[in-house]
Amino acid sequence: MINDSNSDRLAREQFGRDFKWGVSTAAYQIEGAHDVDGKGLSIWDVFTSRKGKVKKGQHGNVACDFYNCFKGDIQLVQDLGIPNFRFSISWSRVLPTGTNTVNQKGIDYYNRIIDYCLESGIEPWVTLYHWDLPQELELKGGWTNREVVDWFSEYAALCVKSFGDRVTNWMVMNEPAVFTGAGYFFGIHAPGRTGMKNFLPAIHHATLSMAAGGKVVKQLAPQANVGTTFSCSYVEPATSGARDLAAAKRADALLNRLFLEPILGLGYPVDDLPVLKKLEKYMRSGDEERMSFDFDFIGIQNYTREIVTSSFFTPYIGARLVAAKKRKVPLTEMGWEVYPEAIYQMIKKFNSYSNIKKLIITENGAAFPDILKDGRVADEKRKKYIEENLRQVLRAQKEGFSVDGYFVWTLTDNFEWAEGYHPRFGLIYVDFETQQRVVKDSGLWYKALLQQ
Ligand code: NOJ
Repeated sequence: MINDSNSDRLAREQFGRDFKWGVSTAAYQIEGAHDVDGKGLSIWDVFTSRKGKVKKGQHGNVACDFYNCFKGDIQLVQDLGIPNFRFSISWSRVLPTGTNTVNQKGIDYYNRIIDYCLESGIEPWVTLYHWDLPQELELKGGWTNREVVDWFSEYAALCVKSFGDRVTNWMVMNEPAVFTGAGYFFGIHAPGRTGMKNFLPAIHHATLSMAAGGKVVKQLAPQANVGTTFSCSYVEPATSGARDLAAAKRADALLNRLFLEPILGLGYPVDDLPVLKKLEKYMRSGDEERMSFDFDFIGIQNYTREIVTSSFFTPYIGARLVAAKKRKVPLTEMGWEVYPEAIYQMIKKFNSYSNIKKLIITENGAAFPDILKDGRVADEKRKKYIEENLRQVLRAQKEGFSVDGYFVWTLTDNFEWAEGYHPRFGLIYVDFETQQRVVKDSGLWYKALLQQ
C-alpha cells in the first residue's frame, strides 16, 4: 500500500497480474562510446557536432556511459524490482555503414546486455530504431530514400537472427511522428532537414519500414511479441468555435493518427488532413498493402495534452498549438503541461480501433528540476506525476478499456536530444561529471509500488 488512506490506495495488484511494469531507455541517450569498438557514426553523432543544434553544444559522446556501466545500471533496475527493461539497439554499432558489414563487437555488446538482463531476472524489450540512423545512410538520402525500407529490413533481420533466441519483445520503431517531424520538417533534430520535400517521403518510407520491420521479425521469430511505438497527445480545441474544432481535428490527425492508421490498414488520414494527399507522389501500387502489419501490441507514449487553435498563417495545417506556458497551467521542465487525464484519454482513443490487439504505455514520465542534497533527490513532483498518471491508467481499466503495461521514461537522467542534459527525466539521478547514480525518491516510490 502506497498511500495513507485506504480509499486513495494505489496498488500494483489493481492493474492485474499480467500487467507489464517496466522502464524505458534509448541507445543514443545513454550509451556514449560513440566511436569505440568499430561503431559507425549515426546522424545524432553528426548533428550534435554541428554548432547551435543542441543546447550548450552538448552531445551523446559519453552520455551516461551505459556502454561501460550497463551492469551497474541493470543491477539498479533489479534493485528497484522493475521486471521489464526497454532499451534500443544502435544501428551503426552493429552495422557501421548501415548495411552489409557486421560489427561483431557491437553484436557482442548487445549480447552482454541481453544476457545480463536475463541473468538478473529482467525481461529485455528491444527497440530497433530509436532515431539514430547510420550517417552513411543519411548521405544516401536517409529516410527520404525509398531504399531505406530494404536497409531497415536487413538491419531488423540481423538483430532478430543475433538476439531472437533470447529476446521475445520487440518494438520496431520509436515515435515516427517525432523523428520525421523534428528531423525532416523542422530540422531541430537529426539529421536537421527541413520542409515538405523531406518530410513527406520520410513519412512514407518510415511507415513502409515499420510494417516491413514487423514482418521480418515475425517471419524469423514467429513466437516473438512484436510491437511498435507512437507518440500521442490529447488534443483539445482552444474554443468550441467551428474553426478551432476543425483545426484540432487536423492536429489530431497529424499528431496521433498519421502513422497508426496506415499500419492498421486504414491508410493515411487524408480526409481529415488534406495536405497528406501530397504523399501520393511517393506511393507505388501495392503500398496500401505494404503499409499495414498486424502488430501484437501497440506502444503509446504520452506526456501531455495540446490545446489547438485555428491559424490561417500556419501553412499546410492551418492550426497551431497554444503554448502551455501561456495557459497558466502547471509545467514540466520541458514546458509541457502536467495533465494526467491525457493518458486516460489516449487509452480510450486507442481502444476505439478494433484491430489493436494489445496496448502498452511504453513511455510516460516527466522532467523536473532535481536537486541532489545530502545524498538524496526529493523529487516529489515526479513521484506525483507518475502516480497521477497511473491513477488515470487504472481509471481507464476500470471503465473497461484495455491497457496491458506501463513503462516509465526513464531509468537514469540522460541526453534529452536538442535540450541536452538539462531536463532530467530519470528515476535515478546522474552526476554527469562522475557518473555517480543516486536513486531519486520517485525511484524508491516506484520500487515500493512494485514490491507489493
Ligand atoms: C519520447 C522519446 O522516445 C524519448 O527519446 C524522449 O527522451 C522522451 N520522449 C522525452 O522527451
